[in-house]
Amino acid sequence: MSQEIKIGLAGLGNVGAGVYKNLQRNGDLLAERTGARFVVRKIAVHDTTKDRGFCVPAGILTTDWNDLVNDPEIDVIVELIGGVAEASRLVRAALTAKKMVITGNKALLAEEGHELVALAEKEDVPLYFEAAVAGGIPIIKVVREALVGNHIQSIYGIINGTSNYILTRMADAELDYAVALKEAQDLGYAEADPALDVNGGDAAHKAIILAWLSYGLWVKPEQVFVDGVENVCRADIEYARSLGYAIKLLGVVRLDESNRVEVRVQPSLVPSDHILASVNGVFNAVAVRGDVVGETLYYGSGAGQDATSSAVISDLADAAANLDNEAGCQGFAPHGFYGEAMPIDETVSAYYVRLQVRDVHGVIAEITRVIADHAIGISSVDQPKAHGSSELVDLMLVTHPAAFGAMRAALGCIESLSCVGAPPVMMRVENLGA
Ligand code: HSE
Repeated sequence: MSQEIKIGLAGLGNVGAGVYKNLQRNGDLLAERTGARFVVRKIAVHDTTKDRGFCVPAGILTTDWNDLVNDPEIDVIVELIGGVAEASRLVRAALTAKKMVITGNKALLAEEGHELVALAEKEDVPLYFEAAVAGGIPIIKVVREALVGNHIQSIYGIINGTSNYILTRMADAELDYAVALKEAQDLGYAEADPALDVNGGDAAHKAIILAWLSYGLWVKPEQVFVDGVENVCRADIEYARSLGYAIKLLGVVRLDESNRVEVRVQPSLVPSDHILASVNGVFNAVAVRGDVVGETLYYGSGAGQDATSSAVISDLADAAANLDNEAGCQGFAPHGFYGEAMPIDETVSAYYVRLQVRDVHGVIAEITRVIADHAIGISSVDQPKAHGSSELVDLMLVTHPAAFGAMRAALGCIESLSCVGAPPVMMRVENLGA
């Protein structure tokens, strides 16, 4: 006979509704595979009268999540309310009540993960968060379980579905940024506040979680250099394409030889023939290199109701196994601190630079001299034909690898030259081991 796992579901928004519906849809399959029947016993929502377009049994809705935490029958609390302050109170109360907790809340983990993990350990209850990173891709399980025998050398991820959707639609359908963002919102990919999607904050939260699992270090959000897709122009997408690259918002987590951990999120040029360049739409992909396994790649829907609820349901299956297994069932939690955060100015890559310059003699010589003075090599210079009557023309450069700080200093000098008529655009070029 199946064991019954009683769930308290906090939040019935996009992902919460997906969890509820997919538990109904695949309940028999889950019972067959896990030996457990998953029963949603209570659901906390803001408004019990709202029409959600599907049936929820009368009497299981409440407006107070304390009703879930205080219910002795409930085994596991699923936190899908989002935000940080209230979600933090809920997760802490649930762990203190010795309930297993599942959360998809990457902002909460990025900001308070070290305290929540410590609390879960103190209370000896598991905290699961597969849905917090890369939607339907089981990347937490990959790092925690499948690659447990590896030193993680690097992670390069397209880990925000909304941004990737926007960049794809700008590149392929020539949509303006605002139109592409509206589409992503209408499709349910964006966060309630899409600012976190487009300013890179959401991807940074996910990178922080991956860095913790990989290196035992909770990098603080303010230590992560973050740039989003808000300022990416169609012109740069086109120029990048002509140079043999696609622009992707990349989250990068890697360790250098001195055990310094680099965590950053930036729009970056990726070689068109690299597999990450063909990850389009809402899809995410995460390339993980381990010292034993080598290069691995994981791909799937990074946002959306069904994909994200699939990740939550996999955590529910682990929670069921955990009830049967005193040793616990969640993979390791790192205890050693294997590294320290690396200052962004010391991180190294190649760069794409677009300048708007006056079309006069000696401009290229003047600019390349400034770059050479900062000990940075140039691998290509391109100047497309001028269009129209604008007195400014585009000039693109691609550099050899250099420290970010040196590159920023060089651009500061270039911006003050009289031949340069607008703030420079700079993006990283990631050759991804190619
Ligand atoms: N808004 C997020 C994204 C949802 O677009 O990736 C998944 O975390």
